[in-house]
Amino acid sequence: MSQYIYDLSPYADIAYYQTHPGHMAAVSLARGHKAPVGNVRVLELGCGSGFNLLAMSMSNPDNEYVGIDLSRVQIENGKAIAAEIGAQNVTLHACSIEDFADGGEQFHYIIAHGFYCWVPPTVRDSMFAMMKRLLAPDGVAYVSYNTNPGWRLRSLMRDGLRFLTPADGSPAERVAQVRTNMGQLADSFLDAEGMYAQAFRDEWTKLNQEQDYYFLHEYLADFCDPLYFEEFVKHAAGHGLRFLAESRYWTNAHAQPQAVRADLERVGGDDLLRREQYLDWMAGRYFRQTLLIHAERNPPGELDPEGILKLRILSDPDTPEEIGDPMRDAVLAKLAEGGVEPLPASAIGAEIFGPVTFLVPTLLVQGWAEGHWALRADTPVFASKVSERPEACPLARLQATSTTLLTNRLHRRVDVTAEEQQVLLQLDGTRAASEFSSQSAVLDALAAKALLAR
Ligand SMILES: C[S@@+](CC[C@H](N)C(=O)[O-])C[C@H]1O[C@@H](n2cnc3c(N)ncnc32)[C@H](O)[C@@H]1O
Repeated sequence: MSQYIYDLSPYADIAYYQTHPGHMAAVSLARGHKAPVGNVRVLELGCGSGFNLLAMSMSNPDNEYVGIDLSRVQIENGKAIAAEIGAQNVTLHACSIEDFADGGEQFHYIIAHGFYCWVPPTVRDSMFAMMKRLLAPDGVAYVSYNTNPGWRLRSLMRDGLRFLTPADGSPAERVAQVRTNMGQLADSFLDAEGMYAQAFRDEWTKLNQEQDYYFLHEYLADFCDPLYFEEFVKHAAGHGLRFLAESRYWTNAHAQPQAVRADLERVGGDDLLRREQYLDWMAGRYFRQTLLIHAERNPPGELDPEGILKLRILSDPDTPEEIGDPMRDAVLAKLAEGGVEPLPASAIGAEIFGPVTFLVPTLLVQGWAEGHWALRADTPVFASKVSERPEACPLARLQATSTTLLTNRLHRRVDVTAEEQQVLLQLDGTRAASEFSSQSAVLDALAAKALLAR
């Protein structure tokens, strides 16, 4: 048997913010679904090395994490990382999800990122069956998938790539060769200015910038079957699961600006699923990160104002200083004052607006949809100020041995400078902050990037 492709060419180690339980719980609350927070069990299907779970375990150590992946090599990599960073609460299994002996214990969150479209149809069925069986009554499942109509253009790339890829050679050699072959094709269209040539070149220029592993697994893999949102929800419904929301909050139909919502209502009326599908047509969407709940639970509805006030509010990487709206600017000013530490929504509401009315939760959720800040249900563990003996997050320290792109305690990717990288590598908790007196600004910067452990 030929060697398994993910053993030969492992997937990159990436933490996905949209899969974080603290984030998913916040999105759920905004749709009136009270998902559990704290001391939760999290299962990830097709977890690669389990890096996503390992990163979560650093900032939410009270949860329990289980990851499953068919690739023995990736799981061994993950176990080595877990041992190195001292992650006690992450268990990784090398097997197919179909062979996982689960013992029937339920999970509050089940994640399948980059899995559904990339496995054969029988495994997709098994995935939903497993979610139905193992999801706790108030739990939330997350599934990402490539979707049409946006993927129609990308499918053109995939078809061309598969036609032009040599059958033999190592993964790296095959990717190098197909890059050359596609480049030659893009330079030799018979009608160089025609619509086909232009669309092809545009897509190819974007795709050619992707890294080899992505190229290989997204475009050359045996399975990568995009589908329409309505097809996806139908498949999920067949297994007793219903659509709750999109995990990227601002991409939800209900979170669109008024003018867009009017268009969605014109076509979809009060049918939420049809409105969501029409939004994909309007946006040309090619990727979804969908949250599902048990079909027996109440359908998604209005936000839960009390629930929203229990959340924390934090700056987004793109949070502006001000936007010219007095109420939103008041929240932004508070956030700027508080630095990287997520602030309780209730406190912000009370401090700024006095008695908290229903307006405050609505404003907080609107600002989230508009991309001014983020809401979270958990309390990530990290030091937002430099302590006497600063210690960097062990996972970030491990990453910093080979890259400046690190995962922080908010489950986000942050870039550090070469100097920050060198200092971070020394922060194992044994050295006093005073030893870095000439680099105190660097220590502060690392704290502001949520890279220090508490
Ligand atoms: C596209 S990768 C995504 C990896 C990771 N979730 C991410 O997004 O970074 C798909 C993963 O699913 C795993 N996989 C494929 N079929 C599987 C199965 N039947 N059971 C468990 N894992 C499987 C592969 O080994 C691979 O690691």
